[in-house]
Amino acid sequence: MALPPTYLADRAKCVDKALDQFLPRATVKPVTIHKAMRYSLFAGGKRLRPILALAAAEACGGSIEKALPAACAVECIHTYSLVHDDLPCMDDDDLRRGRPTSHKVFGDGIAVLAGDALLTIAFEILAQAEATPRYKTAALIRELADASGSRWLIAGQVLDLESEGKPITREQLKFIHRAKTAALLTSSIRLGAMSANATEARLKNLTDFGQALGLAFQIIDDILDVTQTTEKLGKTAGKDVQAVKATYPAIFGLEPSRKEAHRLTNAAMAALAPFGEKGAALHSLADHLLAREY
Ligand code: IPE
Ligand code: IPE
Ligand code: MG
Ligand code: MG
Ligand code: MG
Repeated sequence: MALPPTYLADRAKCVDKALDQFLPRATVKPVTIHKAMRYSLFAGGKRLRPILALAAAEACGGSIEKALPAACAVECIHTYSLVHDDLPCMDDDDLRRGRPTSHKVFGDGIAVLAGDALLTIAFEILAQAEATPRYKTAALIRELADASGSRWLIAGQVLDLESEGKPITREQLKFIHRAKTAALLTSSIRLGAMSANATEARLKNLTDFGQALGLAFQIIDDILDVTQTTEKLGKTAGKDVQAVKATYPAIFGLEPSRKEAHRLTNAAMAALAPFGEKGAALHSLADHLLAREY
């Protein structure tokens, strides 16, 4: 099943509206920080993690409305991770989401603080998620803290930096991808499901779905860095080779990387079997992520 033609745009709009309400206005003092937070958050990201969160909630019989705090929280974490990832002391990128990066516009200091503030507000937003019979709000907060903390997302970023220009094993590369990208993507899906009071069995199915999809997602990101233009990506193409990053195409080659992304996407889809028709949107989203060009 293909997604309805306006599905992604409609969901992104719904997430944007909620984010706009959760964030302090750009006129709130100090104006610089609120402008900088909004600059990166409303720069035209694809909103894939929040869209996955909402779809996971629906697959578990829940509502979009109840999943929105979790969906917005994961997008704030993701955006903070990009603002910091682009800093001169990390990947040193000038372009993000088709615009100059935060530090290029606001300076390094404010970009660091905008990232800090987006990270912090993520938890302020998630704390507004309603508890369900199976999951207290604290369980959701802990879920997001775990995925974005020093054992997962940050661990991946640490190893990504430490591996620049060094030979690493395939297993090490897989761990980096799992940690820096798949963990938050999986958590987005789990949080959507938790907001819908998912059973333990369904949460497990969605965890399997998210882990495979998240790994495929970073492999595709690595492939696109090699095969796409800066214009299409909205971020500078070819940066991974330039920075001698450990990537799938660099270590496995382009064609084997494509095959692996396919294999993982199929594995993700297989994990949706117990959902039957209710898993259709997630299935189509997996298809969409595999075929994406940016
Ligand atoms: C980019 O993520 C960073 C990775 C983890 C690969 P996205 O491709 O989802 O970026 P946006 O949110 O659309 O800008
Ligand atoms: C980013 O990985 C992962 C996180 C920000 C956690 P990349 O460094 O490959 O992402 P891009 O290519 O800059 O978007
Ligand atoms: Mg990086
Ligand atoms: Mg980067
Ligand atoms: Mg990349």
